[in-house]
Amino acid sequence: MKKYLVIGNPIDHSLSPQLHNYWFKQNNIDAVYEKKQINESDIKGIISQMRSGEIEGINVTVPFKKSVIPFLDDLEDLAKKTQSVNTIYKKNNKIIGANTDIKGFSFALEHIKYKVKGKKIFILGAGGVTPSIILALKEMNASTIMLSNRTKEKAESLKKVFPYLNLVKWGDIKDFDIIINATSLGLKENDKIQLNYDKTGSGKFFYDVIYRPQKTKFLAEAGKRGNQIENGKMMFIYQAQLAFEIWTGILPPVNKKVIELLEND
Ligand code: ATR
Repeated sequence: MKKYLVIGNPIDHSLSPQLHNYWFKQNNIDAVYEKKQINESDIKGIISQMRSGEIEGINVTVPFKKSVIPFLDDLEDLAKKTQSVNTIYKKNNKIIGANTDIKGFSFALEHIKYKVKGKKIFILGAGGVTPSIILALKEMNASTIMLSNRTKEKAESLKKVFPYLNLVKWGDIKDFDIIINATSLGLKENDKIQLNYDKTGSGKFFYDVIYRPQKTKFLAEAGKRGNQIENGKMMFIYQAQLAFEIWTGILPPVNKKVIELLEND
C-alpha cells in the first residue's frame, strides 16, 4: 500500500486526509494518506523516506513550505518563484517540489465566477501563502496589488521579488475591490484584525484564506455590511485536487460530495 503524508505544525486541523483518502477510494487506488506533526529537524528524515520509497508523496503546510526546499532535488517553476512548496513528488528518482496553491486560488475564484481582471486588490499579511496569492492575482490581470503586513520588513522583502506590489502601512486602508486576509489571524476564537469595517464600505469582496472556522470575524463583519464574502475552502480543495493529479495522473472531480466532506467535519 502506498503511503502519502501531509506535514505541518500544528497539523490537527488539516482536512487533507479526508479528501485524499476519499479520492483514493473512489479511484480504487491502494493508498493511505495520513497527517503528521513534525519539527523542522524531522524534514530531512521524511524526505529520505521518500527517496527509499517508504513514502510516495507529501503535502506541506504551515510553517514548512519554504524550509523543505533545501532538502529537495528540484523545484517546479512556480515553486521556485514563490519559494513555497506544498506538494512533493518523485520523478526519475528525483524529489521535486511543486506549488498547487497558486492554481488552487485561481480555481477558487473561477469557481464563484469572480473576475479579477482590472480589480484593485488589498492583501493583508506576508506569510507563507502570500507569494502564491500574489502570483495568481498577477496572472489574472489584477490592476493593482496592495500589500500590508504588521512586520514591515517582510512586506519589503516581498516587494523585492514582486516589484509591482504597492506597500501599505499596517492599519491603513486604501480603496480596494477585493481585500484578502492572508494572515493567520482568525484561526483562533479571539483573533481580531484591526480594521475599521465601517470605513471599508459595502459592495466589496472579502476573501479569507482561512476555512476553519468557516466564518472568521473578518468575514462576519464584512458580511454584516453587505459585502460578498468567501472563505478558503475552495482554494484548499483545488490545491488538493491538483496535488492528487500530480501523484496519480487523475484529476478527481470537485463536486458536491467532495465539498460536503469538509462541511460535515
Ligand atoms: P509565516 O510567517 O511563518 O509564514 P504564516 O502563518 O504563513 O506564518 O503567516 C503569518 C502571517 O500572519 C504574517 O503575515 C503575520 O504577520 P507578521 O509578519 O507581522 O508576523 C500575520 N500575523 C500573525 N499574527 C498577527 C497579529 N497578531 N497581527 C497582525 N498580523 C499577524
